[in-house]
Amino acid sequence: MSIEGKVVIITGSSRGIGFSTAKLFAEKHHCIVTLCSRDIKRSVRISKKIKGNVFPVQLDVTKKSEIKMVIKAVISKYGTIDVLINNAGFPFDKNIWYKKFHQIDENDFLNILNVDLMGSVRMSQAVIPVMLKNRNGGVIINISSTPAVSGYHQGAAYTLAKSGNIALTKHISREYGSNNIRSYTLALGNISTEATYFSMNEKQRKIAENESPMKRWGRPEEVSTVAASLASNDFSFATGNTILVDGGFVMI
Ligand SMILES: NC(=O)c1ccc[n+]([C@@H]2O[C@H](COP(=O)([O-])OP(=O)(O)OC[C@H]3O[C@@H](n4cnc5c(N)ncnc54)[C@H](OP(=O)(O)O)[C@@H]3O)[C@@H](O)[C@H]2O)c1
Repeated sequence: MSIEGKVVIITGSSRGIGFSTAKLFAEKHHCIVTLCSRDIKRSVRISKKIKGNVFPVQLDVTKKSEIKMVIKAVISKYGTIDVLINNAGFPFDKNIWYKKFHQIDENDFLNILNVDLMGSVRMSQAVIPVMLKNRNGGVIINISSTPAVSGYHQGAAYTLAKSGNIALTKHISREYGSNNIRSYTLALGNISTEATYFSMNEKQRKIAENESPMKRWGRPEEVSTVAASLASNDFSFATGNTILVDGGFVMI
């Protein structure tokens, strides 16, 4: 597996799974990684925690103007984009997550869809024209979640947005497969990050831990290593797939 020298953009890479993936791609695989946060100062600060070729940028995936600027900057610095990982997620909000479906405010739906789904759509639309010019095409990985596959009794807005990512992956794979653009969905289970494990009490952590047959939380790096494999030519004749990284919680 070699993705050495690949130009990679990872949205929402200031912490958690995005940061872990940026670190792995830059340090172990020697990729050129665009590290993104909505706050440029944070991007610069966090990029210093990674040894390798990291380009810190300010990127809010709800803002088309910022997307355009980032793509332009990456092209002018590195000439192309080989891999896009749509990882940015609307910050976990207990007040929305625990509400009954019929009580969720329309604005809350729209805000979550705007980041988790439309953010991936906007980024993919911006990056595909660049990948179409690549002889080797490109790879787009959309980060989704187990409820998008199995359904869940909470977090309806989140489930809808994450289901859209599965459809986005399939659409890109169908429409651009002949251009050698591959796409995948990673549907994640309980991965310990600030947004999840570190924002829960002991009881909530235990419940989550016991959900999967593996009876533990996943580590961000256990998502990053799968993303690196997918981005490589090891997966050259597989596209459109949803890969569950969840300790076996949901099986398809
Ligand atoms: N952890 C889990 O158990 C789990 C399970 C299933 C799916 N996921 C998905 O995996 C992804 C990463 O999760 P995580 O736990 O690492 O989350 P996290 O710690 O909350 O990180 C989310 C990232 O998204 C960025 N972000 C938020 N709003 C944004 C926007 N409008 N535009 C661009 N970036 C934005 C944040 O960056 P700044 O604040 O610096 O801008 C941050 O880097 C998310 O899509 C999440 O839904 C996670």
